Amino acid sequence: MKRKWWMESFGYQIYIKSFYDTNGDGIGDLEGVYEKLDYLHELGVNLIWLVPFYKSPMDDNGYDVSDFYEVASEYGTLETFKKVLDKANKLNIKVIIDLILNHTSDEHYWFQESRKSLDNPYREYYIWQPPRIIEGKEYEPTNWSSFFGGSCWKKDEITGYYFMKIFSDKMPDLNWESEKVQQEMIKMAKWWLDMGISGFRIDAASHLSRAPFEDSNMTNDRYVPDFSKYSNLPMVHEYLKLLDDQVFSKYDIMTVGEVGGGASVESGLRYASKDYGQLDMVFNFDHNWCTKKVNGEEVTDVVRLKYVFRKWIYGFKGKGWNPLYWLNHDHPRVMSMYGDMDYFEKSAKMLANTLYFIKGTPFIYQGEEIGMTNYPFTKLEEFRDVSTINHIKFSLENNPGLTEEEAVKWHVGNSRDHARIPMQWNSSRNAGFTEGTPWINVHPNYKEINVENQMKDPNSIWNHYKNIINLKLNSKYREVLIYGDFEIVDYNNPHNFSYIRRLKDKAILVVNSFSNQNRRFMQSKIKGYEFDEIIFSNYEDSHISPKSIPLRPYEAVVLSLKLTK
Ligand code: GLC
Ligand code: CA
Repeated sequence: MKRKWWMESFGYQIYIKSFYDTNGDGIGDLEGVYEKLDYLHELGVNLIWLVPFYKSPMDDNGYDVSDFYEVASEYGTLETFKKVLDKANKLNIKVIIDLILNHTSDEHYWFQESRKSLDNPYREYYIWQPPRIIEGKEYEPTNWSSFFGGSCWKKDEITGYYFMKIFSDKMPDLNWESEKVQQEMIKMAKWWLDMGISGFRIDAASHLSRAPFEDSNMTNDRYVPDFSKYSNLPMVHEYLKLLDDQVFSKYDIMTVGEVGGGASVESGLRYASKDYGQLDMVFNFDHNWCTKKVNGEEVTDVVRLKYVFRKWIYGFKGKGWNPLYWLNHDHPRVMSMYGDMDYFEKSAKMLANTLYFIKGTPFIYQGEEIGMTNYPFTKLEEFRDVSTINHIKFSLENNPGLTEEEAVKWHVGNSRDHARIPMQWNSSRNAGFTEGTPWINVHPNYKEINVENQMKDPNSIWNHYKNIINLKLNSKYREVLIYGDFEIVDYNNPHNFSYIRRLKDKAILVVNSFSNQNRRFMQSKIKGYEFDEIIFSNYEDSHISPKSIPLRPYEAVVLSLKLTK
């Protein structure tokens, strides 16, 4: 494959609202991003993804945009953003932003117009349907559910029609069949690119087209969670192709689309194969929930994880490129998912080693580099995420007798708020995130887990992340770690995730133990190679016994290999 700058990038995702607050209103802001760019530079990343900072009523923290050409006042101004961009460029950090194509806020001018009458010029911008009348009773146009719970339709009283909204009630879906919508989005994307950003993370990229409006019989629910009705349909590719032809292909940028759950490798390639895709990469969610129950306890399903990465990385080999990430702002913390709190530091480092030496472009999610964990939510009032709140409320409404505490228990594991609690900068009040009252609670563990402590400690998780980035981008192993082939070894072993990276006569073995017991990695598992020397590890004294590597709990070792044939 032709080499591109973004294959050599190490990314970092910033959830602005929770990153750093500079004016004491309890809300992270763009000035905060600006101030922390030196921090990111020191960590070593050379790409940042900023989540939406467009003007927004913040029903979904900015994914509900009311003006694509303005900055949300709580985040700053366009000038602040330009300052961020400018300084990032000086530090050699590229900036990508979210491009939100699927919907706007209901407070966007287009929607305000669109709802006014059946013949408003903006009517076609959104997806409107008349109510369905069955035996004199009124129903939504279809029985499809939204991602955030309840129907994917909402009635608007002005015309009595329903508009489609696959996310929250305040996020009407755009009608991509409309050429006007297409032209608006083309214009908007160009406007941001001309300002000097380096690309887009394309939000909800797979949802731009809908199946014919017919009920789903996938389940008997009142609202059926049949996401195939609005995911990965053929026309999505036509719309993205239009954007690629008219916008993306005219700039030296990267695009990474969110294709979410349920996308197959084949459909991933339809988006992002180098020959006929419209995007450079796609984020899938397959590795986000690889756990299984053993003796009533939820444990990491290591083979399942290997299966998922094998599927995607092998499936894209020679055809496309993959992004690598453990979590984003929609997922629980990876430490709470696959880490072990009894071996906090070792398991956090091991997880980083597992992921970031795989072939692909890494994206660290803020706080991951210090091992931040899920928040111990117990009450409805502690949540801020519209999706979690909706789901808890729907459960309470539909299950008489269910207590709030129980409803919280049902949904807390999936809550997007775990990722959205404030970044833990230091051990001062509010973890150094804000001098005011934070918009969402700070994790009680911030005195132990914070950036300041870890930057000082050469053996910290933070320094381990820094070393990983350095090894990948700046060492003599750079070429093989970026462009080398990826092959999983010892596949069926449930205790380790190990693989070889190989470029011509250079080969690297990455061994990661997911076990809290002592284990061993046998040289016999890597036919055609012999161990050479240890390059990097999460223990100070990792070593090679002649034909095996002894592995202590969560030991993670990177070593060079000699070719024997
Ligand atoms: C994507 C975003 C998520 C948002 C949704 C609607 O899934 O990652 O945070 O709620 O799209 O824009
Ligand atoms: Ca602020």
